[in-house]
Amino acid sequence: MTILALESSCDETAAAVVRDGRVVLSSVIASQHELHEEYAGVVPELASRAHVERMLPIVRAALEEAGVGLGLVDAIAVGHRPGLIGSLLVGVSAAKALAWSLGKPLIGVDHVHAHLYAGVLGQCDEVEEAYATASAVARTGDPLFPALGLVVSGGHTSMYLLRSWIDLTRVGATIDDAMGEAYDKAATILGVPYPGGPNLDRLASSAGASDRVIDLPISRLSPTSLDFSFSGLKTALLYAVRGLPSAKGEYARDATQLSPEQRRDFAAAFQRAACKAVILKLERVLDRWSEFSSEPCRSLLTGGGVTANSRLRAELQALADRRGIALRLPPLAWCVDNAAMIGGLAYELQRAGKWSDLSLQAVPTTSL
Ligand code: KG4
Ligand code: ZN
Repeated sequence: MTILALESSCDETAAAVVRDGRVVLSSVIASQHELHEEYAGVVPELASRAHVERMLPIVRAALEEAGVGLGLVDAIAVGHRPGLIGSLLVGVSAAKALAWSLGKPLIGVDHVHAHLYAGVLGQCDEVEEAYATASAVARTGDPLFPALGLVVSGGHTSMYLLRSWIDLTRVGATIDDAMGEAYDKAATILGVPYPGGPNLDRLASSAGASDRVIDLPISRLSPTSLDFSFSGLKTALLYAVRGLPSAKGEYARDATQLSPEQRRDFAAAFQRAACKAVILKLERVLDRWSEFSSEPCRSLLTGGGVTANSRLRAELQALADRRGIALRLPPLAWCVDNAAMIGGLAYELQRAGKWSDLSLQAVPTTSL
């Protein structure tokens, strides 16, 4: 089955053609970073206008790159939740128009759910090789489940128990900032330019960086909590950079007074505390796995923009090796928002009979 997938939930306009849920024939992403840079954050109205301009050229590019005409597409998928409502509406409207005019079925996909799928997409350069791998997986039965899922993005930070692609339960989530949001805010505190997350990662990983020059708190919450919190870490970094505020709420210093070495080391200390907090909660779930499932955990499915983070990737791999579970970590291109993951998960949804129709709505919140 060949699915044309659309994604426009935030500031990336994306389209992809995915075969049988695993083989990515094309994945085209137009980022809007340059549009939002001067505001140091995504401006919803600018984002939705840019989606309107870019969506159809991106769809055309994805079809061309895949060498697939619209007539050969079996279904249209779209990320319809969660996200910025104006941005989502562009993708949902385009997908409905395509489905209706071509007489093809429509599949609405939850974007957070799709991030969990990104690590199992065909990762081979050679499409035929990826297709063979996917077929082999299909023949032998899916060895992934039960799985522990982790989504760390700009809007969400959550863990899930997955019994299948369709049957999943949330076991923990952030009680305040999402991890990517904390990275973006930490970057602002340190005077690191937009986009904050990747730039802070680069700085923290640069030569000579020490993550122990300042001691920032690793969030644990209560001893049994499976939730995350990043706001305390962010405030601790703020005070480390600016000193404690006066009674009037004024600070004595700001990031401009940091030396380049201090800025680099503060970034590394933030990165250490943020990543360790995530690993700690994954360890807690794995320690208590028998409460969630009678079968052993077979894989760790990860996704979302922050899985592009160099330290988190290394720590996730080390965790999976320690625990002897398979890690599905998306390649960098599929960590951030993309349509390939939407087309991949859509295949699993339709196999379970979860089709949508033209009443599909854009919804700002996740269903998970
Ligand atoms: O998944 P995504 O593209 O969009 C949402 O669904 O939110 O994630 C975007 C987030 C941003 O907060 C961005 O700063 C963060 O992912 N991010 C990173 C890195 N690359 C992207 N955070 C830390 N390190 C990175 N290398
Ligand atoms: Zn996302």
